[in-house]
Amino acid sequence: MKVLLIGANGQLGSDLLRVFRTAGHAVVPATHAQMDVCSEDRVSEIMAEAKPDVVLNTAAFHKVEECEKNPALAFQVNCTAAMNLAKACRRSGAVLVHFSTDYVFDGQKNAPYEETDLPSPLNVYGVSKVSGAHLIAVNADRYFVIRTCGLYAIAGSSGKGGNFVENMLKKAMSGEEICVVDDQVLTPTYTTDLAEATRRLILTGKFGLYHLSSEGRCSWYEFARSIFECAGVDAQPKAVKTGDFPSPVKRPSYSVLSKTRLRALGLTIPSWQDALSRYLQERSKKNPLASTAPVHASS
Ligand SMILES: NC(=O)c1ccc[n+]([C@@H]2O[C@H](COP(=O)([O-])OP(=O)(O)OC[C@H]3O[C@@H](n4cnc5c(N)ncnc54)[C@H](OP(=O)(O)O)[C@@H]3O)[C@@H](O)[C@H]2O)c1
Repeated sequence: MKVLLIGANGQLGSDLLRVFRTAGHAVVPATHAQMDVCSEDRVSEIMAEAKPDVVLNTAAFHKVEECEKNPALAFQVNCTAAMNLAKACRRSGAVLVHFSTDYVFDGQKNAPYEETDLPSPLNVYGVSKVSGAHLIAVNADRYFVIRTCGLYAIAGSSGKGGNFVENMLKKAMSGEEICVVDDQVLTPTYTTDLAEATRRLILTGKFGLYHLSSEGRCSWYEFARSIFECAGVDAQPKAVKTGDFPSPVKRPSYSVLSKTRLRALGLTIPSWQDALSRYLQERSKKNPLASTAPVHASS
């Protein structure tokens, strides 16, 4: 299949590019510099040139604090552009694959969220993503909307300035105090696994809304501890509460996604612990000088 990949040099985009090409698919990568997803004309132009069977849209405005300050831009990128892509895909007969977020939920359920649970976002980012997915459902015939959670990638997040794993390791190296919230529970997800699961999901042809994150759950604090343990870094993070750091942005305290629909198709995804260990191995292969020796951080 021929794939147009939007947001090709982001965290997820970089892994989708590698995974789809390795599997033998022809991928036309489009970076933000090459194509603003908000430009209908540019999207039509690239779609006409590329003639894709599948459009993978990873483009998003997902800095949650910035979304609060600039809701117009959040809606333009996460909602209107998604709707326009859905219409363009329907016109050309392409399948649209769009990524959404665990932040569509408010966290009050305190049990894994099913695809059938009603969204109730707490912030502008979440509202813009729910709206985008809704407009895709209305405007596209053949689509996958994939909600995911806590992404980290070797490529690093251009949108957020690095990923959580790298930020933790950097802080440990600098010896600064590491405070991490233990009252937000999620599932960290390695984009390599998400990219591969996305590829297998597309091949089923069973369109619709899916939850796709690693298996398992942990708090950010537990994740930080596992990062240090797995990397052999002697750092002791300090558990803190969300309320210790007042923020204008509300975040769900629990955003674990149940993968009921994925399993019903006979598909699986590895656990977050397994993924973290492979990420750290991959990272040290890419950069043998990356911290493997224990360092000491104050706590
Ligand atoms: N990161 C997470 O923890 C997380 C969690 C749940 C869901 N998601 C969703 O997963 C998807 C991928 O996230 P990610 O972490 O891979 O993000 P990312 O690393 O920031 O990648 C997003 C890519 O989209 C590009 N982009 C942004 N605005 C664009 C625009 N207007 N037109 C064209 N391209 C644009 C970015 O380019 P520039 O950087 O050059 O602007 C970047 O290459 C998003 O839909 C996000 O909402 C992410």
